[in-house]
Order: sequence, then C-alpha cells, then structure tokens
Amino acid sequence: MSRIALVTGGSRGIGAAISKELKAQGYAVAATYAGNDEAAAAFTAETGIKTYKWNVADYESSAAGIAQVEADLGPIDTVVANAGITRDAPFHKMTPQNWHEVIDTNLTGVFNTIHPVWPGMRERKFGRVIVISSINGQKGQFGQVNYAATKAGDLGIVKSLAQEGARAGITANAVCPGYIATEMVMSIDEAIRDKIVAGIPAGRLGEPEEIAKCVAFLAAEDSGFINGSTISANGAQFFV
Ligand code: CAA
Repeated sequence: MSRIALVTGGSRGIGAAISKELKAQGYAVAATYAGNDEAAAAFTAETGIKTYKWNVADYESSAAGIAQVEADLGPIDTVVANAGITRDAPFHKMTPQNWHEVIDTNLTGVFNTIHPVWPGMRERKFGRVIVISSINGQKGQFGQVNYAATKAGDLGIVKSLAQEGARAGITANAVCPGYIATEMVMSIDEAIRDKIVAGIPAGRLGEPEEIAKCVAFLAAEDSGFINGSTISANGAQFFV
C-alpha cells in the first residue's frame, strides 16, 4: 500500500529533499509552498511531485488545501511540518511584526498542518507526524528570540501529541537540523556564517538530504515505538 505524505514548504530547501526522499521510498507526496510559483513549477517539472499553494499560517487555507490533497491522492498518513521562516534581529530591534510573522508561520502553522489530518489518523489507527524544529530551538540563538521560541514550541507539540496519539498508532517526532546549506542559511551575512561554521565540529554545513534521511526513518512503519523523540542532526555543534 502506498503511503501518502504531505510536506509543507516541500518544494525548496530541506522540504524539497524530504519530498524527494519520501517519493523515492514509494510514498505519494504532496508538497506545499507559500509564494514562489516559479520554484514550485520547476520542482514539479524536475521531480513529478505535485505542489499545492497555501499559507500554513491560515487555518482555513490549510484545511481546504489538505482536503484537496486528500481528494487527489487519498488520506494523508504521514505529515511533515517543515514550512518555516526567519525574521532575525537582536531583541532590542525585533518588531512585533517580526515576532508575529514567525510565530504565525512556524508555530501556529504546525498546528494548522497537523490538526486537520489528526482525526483521520486516529480513525485509521495509523499516523506519522514529523516536525522540523531546529538546533536553535534547543540552544537559543543570538538574533532569533522569535524563531527559537517557535522551534522550542515544536518540541512541546510533538511530546504532547506523542502521548495523545500513542494508543491510536500515531507517532509524533521532531528533527532538529543544525545549520544546513539552504537558502535560509546562505542568506546569513557571510562573515557571520563563517563564524558559525567554525563552531561546527564537522567543519561544514549539513546537506538537506541528511535531514531527509532522518525524516524517512521516523516515517517508516517499523519506527512505531519511537514516539515523542527528537533526532538532532547538527554535525556535533550542540548536544541536548
Ligand atoms: N553572540 C554575541 N554577540 C553577538 C552575536 C553572537 N552570536 N552575534 C552578533 N553579536 C554582537 C555583534 O558582535 C555586535 O556587537 P557590537 O555592536 O559590540 O559590535 C552586535 O551583536 C550587533 O551585531 P550585528 O552587527 O550582527 O547586528 P545586526 O542587527 O546587524 O544583525 C543579526 C543581527 C541579523 C541577528 C545577525 O547577527 C545574524 O544574522 N546572526 C545570525 C543569526 C542566525 O544564526 N540565524 C540563523 C538563520 S538560519 C536558521 O534559522 C536555520 C536553522 O534552523 C539553523
């Protein structure tokens, strides 16, 4: 039986690698994106993975989008809440808008992504929920009070969902990537990025595919006893 996976922010960066890895493993994959039509079209042309456009920060759009995916592909049993943004600034320069945009997308967006698929998973007695958190939710980061708050919040979400879903065959786990070579990280000022890389014992940024492998592991049917866990993939930069 083909499993059906939804990957938010699934057409670029880490999300694109996750979408491709799950497809390679035989899943039917739906990848969402928020705004970049061109990148999404190129991604579909390259991979054959269908993309859907909605704003994860909006509950009604998420619910309608998920209903469309299920009408097209069937019931979603694997959900990867990956979509995320940064609005970095030292706290004294951080605006309420910086705060709310990141909370709405990275935290409320995770609720909006999981909540509509949860009842179906409970009914079918199977589900895999994987949330892409971050090393910076574990250790905090200068300039990321907003982002770190959401990524720490993600860990609270999976630990709670794990307890609620366990009896219904649903697992909820997190992956905490370290600094990965994506547009998000490459847009950090080069001098600052060089300092960050110097602090990674592996001596390099991670690759999106290295995060995708963690997701595929957690999504597997025989990973059912791993529940409420966090996989840290950060090149030994930080240990919990
Ligand atoms: N620790 C201590 N002090 C720091 C610091 C740090 N990590 N980083 C900067 N500072 C200090 C600077 O030395 C500077 O001090 P002085 O004024 O005494 O010289 C002061 O803070 C101001 O620094 P900036 O000039 O850099 O301030 P800015 O307003 O121009 O930029 C910033 C602030 C945007 C947050 C910038 O420092 C930055 O981009 N930092 C990197 C943040 C980061 O790691 N983001 C991760 C993005 S990728 C991601 O989020 C994916 C993931 O999950 C890992």
